[in-house]
Amino acid sequence: MSTRETWTTRAGFIFAAVGSAVGLGNIWSFPFQTASNGGAAFLVVYLLAVFLIGFPTMLAEFVIGRRSEQNAISAFERLGFSNWTFTGALGVFAAFVTLAFYSVVGGWVLRYIVGSLTGAYFGDTAGYFAAISAGPGAIVTHAAFMAITIGIVAFGVADGIERATKFMIPAIIVLLIGLAGWGATLSGAGAGYSYYLSPDVDVILSNFGSIVPSAMGQAFFTLSLGFGVMIAYASYLGSDDSLPGDSAIIVVLNTVVALLAGFAVFPVLFSTLEDPTTTSGGMGTAFTALAGAFGQLPAGQVLGFVFFVVLLFAALSSSISLLEAPTSYVVDTYDYDRWKIAVGVGVVTFVVGVPSTFGITWLAFYNDLVFNVLLPVAVFLIAVFVGWVADAEAFDELGRGSVVGDVPGTAPLTTIWLWWVRVVVPIVVLYTLYLGVTSLYTGLTTGGYF
Ligand code: PFF
Repeated sequence: MSTRETWTTRAGFIFAAVGSAVGLGNIWSFPFQTASNGGAAFLVVYLLAVFLIGFPTMLAEFVIGRRSEQNAISAFERLGFSNWTFTGALGVFAAFVTLAFYSVVGGWVLRYIVGSLTGAYFGDTAGYFAAISAGPGAIVTHAAFMAITIGIVAFGVADGIERATKFMIPAIIVLLIGLAGWGATLSGAGAGYSYYLSPDVDVILSNFGSIVPSAMGQAFFTLSLGFGVMIAYASYLGSDDSLPGDSAIIVVLNTVVALLAGFAVFPVLFSTLEDPTTTSGGMGTAFTALAGAFGQLPAGQVLGFVFFVVLLFAALSSSISLLEAPTSYVVDTYDYDRWKIAVGVGVVTFVVGVPSTFGITWLAFYNDLVFNVLLPVAVFLIAVFVGWVADAEAFDELGRGSVVGDVPGTAPLTTIWLWWVRVVVPIVVLYTLYLGVTSLYTGLTTGGYF
């Protein structure tokens, strides 16, 4: 078997992991979920979910990846627990399903970049969205987005993923800061900020049942947890990196990008829509609401272009990680040429994604299947595995190269982390799963999807 690749530098790993985390989830879904779930009320719960549940779970995935030096599926076997392999397989399956519909949305973004240049969506935003989001045109853009993703992954970890994300992440941050600065000059900025940033406890309490699962699902999705991606990425990591230090940087940067996206989007929505708080978190609304807003604003064409380019970079830096999860499994296991595998897996995923070009409800179904069921189940299993099954290895691995583990066996932070992953994470995730499955079931039985 050929020598396994590693990241060229620590920064290379961090950029790639931030690239995976920062995606459509941050810029497309986060501001709109926040808008439709009570604004700041959602923000508070989301931040708690990210830092209290997401961060420790990311450490759990990093521990599995670096300890095993394997992709998410083989990792469990390498650690000596082959009957847990299904956990990794479930994550890789989730990555596969996610990429299938993610690429369709990536295709829309490509189309909106062109549409911004030509001004095509300014007249009839809803009509434009309906025309490009389904049917043959959507299949073509879905294929184009997948082809770019395959191209990057085919080049490998260092030459493809590391290089691409090192360029895209700084570009995303700079452009978003620019957009947020421009947003501050709009008439609705004040109202937008206040809805975004002043939480109302009553809103949280009275909508607990819907805010919690949305915020948790969003937290896992945005941090790319439960997909085996962070396991695969950490497997290319040297033993002298500090896992807690790296994850803290990744979680914070990912949160900064989501917050910045909110600072860019809220002023736009509050300057142009009658009631932005009813903007549903639904799939297409983000595109129609923003496109409509750009159409009404001075220099909307340029700003629309910049916004959709940011969205494209974010989507690509995530889609490559989604393709890397299954690709790394085949590369590790069968030693075929990486590029052939990337093409093979990419083409199959493309085909699986085609139904979500039939209509928005298919896409919503794929999305909800991942958010409400696959993710919580995968995260639950990972927490139980790290907390109860491979706990001794996990304890030891977290300490390697890390400040908290300088004194093996006595590091109190590591102990707290382990107990947190043992008890708190599984309980919270099970509760989320219960709410998520109930809502998917209701959707299916009441004809909400098909
Ligand atoms: N974190 C990405 C986003 O917020 O858009 C989505 C994602 C990428 C999820 C990679 C999972 C993953 F493995």
